[in-house]
Amino acid sequence: MPFTSIIDELSNRGFALQKDFLREDMTHDLVLECRRREREGSLTPAGIGRGEGVAVMEGIRGDQIDWLDPGQAAISDRYLATMDELRQALNQAFFLGLEEFECHFALYPPGAFYKPHLDRFRDDDSRTVTAVLYLNHDWQPEHGGEMRMHLAQGPLDVAPLAGSLVVFMSGEVLHEVLPTSVDRLALTGWFRRRAIQPF
Ligand code: OGA
Ligand code: MN
Repeated sequence: MPFTSIIDELSNRGFALQKDFLREDMTHDLVLECRRREREGSLTPAGIGRGEGVAVMEGIRGDQIDWLDPGQAAISDRYLATMDELRQALNQAFFLGLEEFECHFALYPPGAFYKPHLDRFRDDDSRTVTAVLYLNHDWQPEHGGEMRMHLAQGPLDVAPLAGSLVVFMSGEVLHEVLPTSVDRLALTGWFRRRAIQPF
């Protein structure tokens, strides 16, 4: 796995973009897995916040999600294994103490978006590094749905093209998903430090 460019880009400019992070056969199988979950009714409207405070607010985000757990499908296990290698590489390079990776499929139906935000909750700062893999094989610019990062040097749009992985520090990069005109599929994930126990 060529993680060196991810590490280099992260340390040089605060985010990394790797256009061919996963081979097409894998992204294809991940699309099938996401569509299977959709057919079975496993995708549910995403909320804002965590735990009992989760609220669905369509004015902020309109995606439908389903979490990955070990043992659900061979392809999702493969993805989790790949991301665990990346977790170890990030720890070796930056001494972040990342202990786990959590991720979900996200389907943005036509018209959906996610307003500008940071990936860090007010009451829980364990999300440390964000990693989003895109799964749109036929994406065209007129489809929209780019992920816009608001960087010090200005906005930067990332096309949600199948196989592209974007990585950034969860609490530092303000970002949003622009409205999409077609179904937009992604695997959105976070490397976490040990959560601070409230009790
Ligand atoms: C998120 C998010 C970005 C994307 O789910 O927090 O910002 O490109 N996703 O899907
Ligand atoms: Mn986000």
